[in-house]
Amino acid sequence: MGNDATTPLLDRLGRPVEDLRVSVTDRCNLRCRYCMPREVFGPDHAFLERDELLTFEELARLARVFVGLGVRKLRLTGGEPLLRRDLPGLVAQLAPIDGLHDLAMTTNGVLLRRFAQPLAEAGLRRVTVSLDALDDATFRQLADTNAPVGTVLDGIAAAREAGLDPIKVNCVLQRGVNDAQIEELAGWARDTGVTLRFIEFMDVGTTNGWLRDRVVPAAEVAERVGARWPIEPVEPARPGEVAERFRYLDGAGEVGIIASVTRPFCGTCSRARLSAVGELYTCLFAAKGHDLRALLRGGADDAEVAAAVTAVWSARTDRASELRAEAGLTGPRVEMSYIGG
Ligand code: GTP
Ligand code: 5AD
Ligand code: SF4
Ligand code: SF4
Repeated sequence: MGNDATTPLLDRLGRPVEDLRVSVTDRCNLRCRYCMPREVFGPDHAFLERDELLTFEELARLARVFVGLGVRKLRLTGGEPLLRRDLPGLVAQLAPIDGLHDLAMTTNGVLLRRFAQPLAEAGLRRVTVSLDALDDATFRQLADTNAPVGTVLDGIAAAREAGLDPIKVNCVLQRGVNDAQIEELAGWARDTGVTLRFIEFMDVGTTNGWLRDRVVPAAEVAERVGARWPIEPVEPARPGEVAERFRYLDGAGEVGIIASVTRPFCGTCSRARLSAVGELYTCLFAAKGHDLRALLRGGADDAEVAAAVTAVWSARTDRASELRAEAGLTGPRVEMSYIGG
């Protein structure tokens, strides 16, 4: 397939393609204000039609092509991936792929109680759950929902019961919204035995009302958590990890911080993203993707699909977060819910 261990596929900045994030739907059962504000994603919003979505067979085929080019990690995202009908059926097609070392999913957790066990049985190894607050009032306001936060907490419990391990929890911090809960969230994660990662609020997409003043800098988060429970930095397990990791000195596990704004990590970014309709995006902040579905549906063989991916990745120069740090972001870009975070 045009690639082996001696000729890794590298982009123009020398970065390999190791990580594939696959969006399986652009729909979500929450309306987090920083991601899918209801004013934009309301009843009239045109979500993707079912026949536009890649089929499970098409997805599995693309996944195999990417693994042939160096991908080792695959993450299912959305929107909310559990809204895609029969997600365990897709997992069952992806889990056996030779050379794929890690298969994970990012979910809001609302439907995890129903799906954790079937997903684990189908071969999913671990999940990352998004959770920005522990109290109903803040959770409901942030996610613009009537669902109680207990639904998500119970989803996390279901994931544990199903043996999904490790369980990570992503928490996007916003000044004045949930930053007062930093210590409470960290304490909850320590007690629950999940790995919490605080994420700096990013200006992804064009609808989330991002304000620089709302970003809670990673340095402040580390200081506050460390003041309560002493921590020390942990070396990254591999290059390209987005979270800076810290170990609690008392042995209660780890906490992570994803400093996309104050300490961008484009230099080692090995992530490719696939939209639900099969467009390849080479950056979270890209304006446009490259259509792979047309190739698949036009009868291309695997070698031709691999050649198309190779052409796109070899030309890649993206480093949007670093550029933004230098000059700010302008122009059109894809929405986070479409490309899966
Ligand atoms: P693990 O292997 O479990 O550590 O997965 P991960 O680090 O890829 O975690 P996850 O998919 O949960 O990503 C966490 C968050 O980091 C995302 O939801 C985004 O907010 C942010 N993030 C992930 N990848 C990128 C990226 O390529 N660029 C930027 N700017 N932010 C990213
Ligand atoms: N900034 C940072 N993280 C975000 N996410 C969604 N929108 C943003 C944003 N503007 C996170 C979600 C979830 C993951 C898929 O992306 O909270 O954890
Ligand atoms: Fe849905 Fe996740 Fe976006 Fe919230 S952040 S609206 S849960 S896709
Ligand atoms: Fe990768 Fe783009 Fe994120 Fe930089 S901004 S880390 S290049 S996805």
